[in-house]
Amino acid sequence: MILALESSCDETAAAICAADGRLLAARVSSQADIHRRYGGVVPEVASRNHILHARPLVEQVLSDAGVTLADISAFAATSGPGLVSSLLIGASMAKAMAVAEGKPFFAVNHMEGHLLSPFMEGAGPVRANVSLIVSGGHTMLVRVRAAGDYQLLGKTRDDAAGEAFDKTAKMLGLPYPGGPEMDKQAALGNPRAFAFPRSFLDGRSLEFSFSGLKTAVLYELPKLDLASPAVLADVCASVQEAIIEVLVEKLALAARQCGEKLVTVSGGVSCNRGLRARLASRCAEEGLTLLLARPDLCTDNAGMIAFAALQHFLSGRASPLDADVDPNLPLVA
Ligand code: KG4
Ligand code: ZN
Repeated sequence: MILALESSCDETAAAICAADGRLLAARVSSQADIHRRYGGVVPEVASRNHILHARPLVEQVLSDAGVTLADISAFAATSGPGLVSSLLIGASMAKAMAVAEGKPFFAVNHMEGHLLSPFMEGAGPVRANVSLIVSGGHTMLVRVRAAGDYQLLGKTRDDAAGEAFDKTAKMLGLPYPGGPEMDKQAALGNPRAFAFPRSFLDGRSLEFSFSGLKTAVLYELPKLDLASPAVLADVCASVQEAIIEVLVEKLALAARQCGEKLVTVSGGVSCNRGLRARLASRCAEEGLTLLLARPDLCTDNAGMIAFAALQHFLSGRASPLDADVDPNLPLVA
């Protein structure tokens, strides 16, 4: 069994996974209600709340799984990318438990956690695929040859897809975090009501850019009656449509370029219902097999960190105890 902690941003999470990858216990303590009043995550507040929640969460997952610390074979934590003061809490605690129990420690890249999450809960073992990771801080296309063997195909030049959701939602007066609110509103609106820009859809580029979308929404704002629920829903549906179209088409293009039939999508934005539906229909058209994680495993969680650590464990790649956290840790060196 591997016990993992995740504390890269504003969710404190702990989980235990079994040697076969099954999730035995997983808990997330969200700080969204705390940060909502500031309109975004305040790093100092986040790290103080991680300190408050980390130990009770570990005690809870041990009790949920019906085991004690002595039953755990290895400890893991996210070591980056993320907020440095937040990363330090989970990493220090996992290392302390590893030292106290005399067990190995695994430092896990948060993006690798997302990347492998579609293979959790019975979909494994990890196989070759082309992967789209869409989170709050990152948007990238990755070619996975096997667990631990990754090639970056393309990433965003500016905002991440989650940021595009969150920033446009904020402009429209929706509460933080904007992505899930946009998803709700979009379901009620017309995705063709506004023609927002789709960047880099031409040609063979696997890079993304979402800052033009943000600017287009900003210019549209003075003309909009956002007090009208129908107008708000139409703008949200059109913004979401612009984001979805770029993501889905670039994933299909990447799969074609790599000659790969298995595609996976992960990260918080992959919870989006419109995106999930479009991925399913587009992948069927393209003859692609699509793997998506369960929605609660798409947003930040420690189960995905335990699962990624298990792949390191299986290949004998333990981390030294002086392995530092790195707010800019790259997925591919
Ligand atoms: O992966 P994640 O939980 O954290 C990071 O690693 O960043 O992703 C968070 C992002 C946020 O931008 C949030 O607004 C977005 O995922 N998100 C969504 C939805 N649920 C979460 N975006 C669109 N629709 C959703 N349903
Ligand atoms: Zn994440």
